[in-house]
Amino acid sequence: MAQQQEFRTTQRPPLDLSHHFSQTTKNRLSSNVKGLYKWFQLPGMQNVAGGLPHESYFPYDTLEAAAARPSRFDEPKSSKGKSNKPAEWHVTVPKIQDTTDILKKIDLSTALQYGTAEGYPPLATFIRKFARDHLHPNVPYAEGPEIIMTCGSTDGLAKAVEALTNPWNKTKDWIRDKEGVLFEEFAYMNAVQTVEPRGLNVVTVGVDADGMRASGPGGLADVLENWDFSKGKRPHLMYTVTLGQNPTGSTTSIERRKEIYTLCQRYDIIIIEDEPYWNLQFPSSRKHAAKYRGEAAVQADLFNRNYNAHGRSSGYEFLDSLVPSFLSIDVDGRVVRLDTFSKTIAPGCRLGWITAQPAIVERILRITEVSTQQPSGFVQVMVAQLLLQQQGSPATARKSADKEGLGWTLDGWVQWLAGLRDAYERRVHDMCSVLEEGRTVAIDRPAAHRRSSSLDSWSVINKVPMYEFDWPLAGMFLWVKIRYDTHPLLEIYGAEKVCTALWFFLLKKPFLILSAPGTMFAPTEAIRRGRAFQYIRLCFAPMAEDAVTDISQHFVAGCRAFWQLENFDDIEELDDSVMPEKMGLQMC
Ligand SMILES: Cc1ncc(COP(=O)(O)O)c(C=O)c1O
Repeated sequence: MAQQQEFRTTQRPPLDLSHHFSQTTKNRLSSNVKGLYKWFQLPGMQNVAGGLPHESYFPYDTLEAAAARPSRFDEPKSSKGKSNKPAEWHVTVPKIQDTTDILKKIDLSTALQYGTAEGYPPLATFIRKFARDHLHPNVPYAEGPEIIMTCGSTDGLAKAVEALTNPWNKTKDWIRDKEGVLFEEFAYMNAVQTVEPRGLNVVTVGVDADGMRASGPGGLADVLENWDFSKGKRPHLMYTVTLGQNPTGSTTSIERRKEIYTLCQRYDIIIIEDEPYWNLQFPSSRKHAAKYRGEAAVQADLFNRNYNAHGRSSGYEFLDSLVPSFLSIDVDGRVVRLDTFSKTIAPGCRLGWITAQPAIVERILRITEVSTQQPSGFVQVMVAQLLLQQQGSPATARKSADKEGLGWTLDGWVQWLAGLRDAYERRVHDMCSVLEEGRTVAIDRPAAHRRSSSLDSWSVINKVPMYEFDWPLAGMFLWVKIRYDTHPLLEIYGAEKVCTALWFFLLKKPFLILSAPGTMFAPTEAIRRGRAFQYIRLCFAPMAEDAVTDISQHFVAGCRAFWQLENFDDIEELDDSVMPEKMGLQMC
């Protein structure tokens, strides 16, 4: 801790970026009701002020759950992929925990009551320490960042956008006042749809395997330098997913981050970094890809490094090995980082947190006070108790044979994250290996000859690639580019129809593969009409681990069969008005 203090006080404070706050955000005062909470918590205080129901009226007397040990991923598996050992971890939340220490008082009387907008104190304190000392131990501004709990990243983003953008109305406002947000050219559409209805410009930046491009045509510098002010203000906000980007799977190296950050400083841009997949970084991808494609043809090795070697260690080899956040180079305090438990515990938790400079977190706190107030007490207390359960609860001591009711603690949490990463790493390997091995198909004639040639139809055998992809270095997705140019029916149907037909064909028996069409991730009409049609996104997360290979084989078999078709007559649905994005469907 002394070392941390010393490190942080030698830095300058974050910049005052309050000129970026929206007008509503500037106007917000603290919630009067919430302001009284600090006194509620004083021992002996008789509260006749707040409308707080007494805990004896809560119908729950205890919450209990059987849960995984943090070592679950390292344990031997049954044939169904489940751990052979029974769950031995028991989480019990009592009605009242007899302590006045609010950081140790994990019980229903506090968790199911109205709480503070920062989050449930024991959990928020754990997360604050985790974020500041372990995930991002080297944030370069004085005193380091603050955190606030959210109901997941979607909620975090909505609040950050509310804090940092002014809505624009074309019937009332000057075009010169229209604000804009930068996105990767293929993006998580929930994020785009958080911004778009506010009347803001959605501005896209080119992406390669190394994430958002800083330079070159369509790169960040190009977009900002050549900004056309007739469209509105130059964007002052960026939304980016830098690890296992959804949908492209790209990962932004530290070197690329520095280039982007420098541009954001030059043009005074705030970066919202949304990282649900951050823990899922796959050091083995490069090695496996190199086996198939040769060393020179694969992406740089981002791993096998200790990213904190120059400063403070996270205290864990696993965390030190992860490509660091934009926060690690955020000298100005212009990074707002979104984290979530959706991919590390479960999406239905609706729990996450924001990490940013204190002044930005304070404004988001004000938004929280009058919107969600706090994440659900049920969820916060179950997660808090899983991680922090104190020894001595009679119920837990009885049930938990080896640990006497202790929580996972930080060590267990990091062990869980590392095990989860290993499990996804096996999945990415299984899916990519099958796709890699099945990439080509032998077709009997080149496209132009398919219908017109009088040659013997078996006289020319061609081996052509059906698709291309990069092995993802992180995340849950494989971004597959369809090589429609090799399809024998290209000249008859055209590129877009070939790709649409493939999507429908894969849905059919015997393949039954539901993939996500690239058009679902196109933030603008120009990209939607441009090249988005040639991509599909495959996700290796939703199925049981031992089904990944089989499902991937179905995909390859479907592609093979599709490249052998004589025509698309049997694909009745070949009407792209029923493509998911045209029906307003979305994919997370
Ligand atoms: C980039 C990105 N951000 C956010 C989310 C949703 O996160 P949460 O469940 O925490 O709202 C997803 C889910 O797929 C995602 O891919």
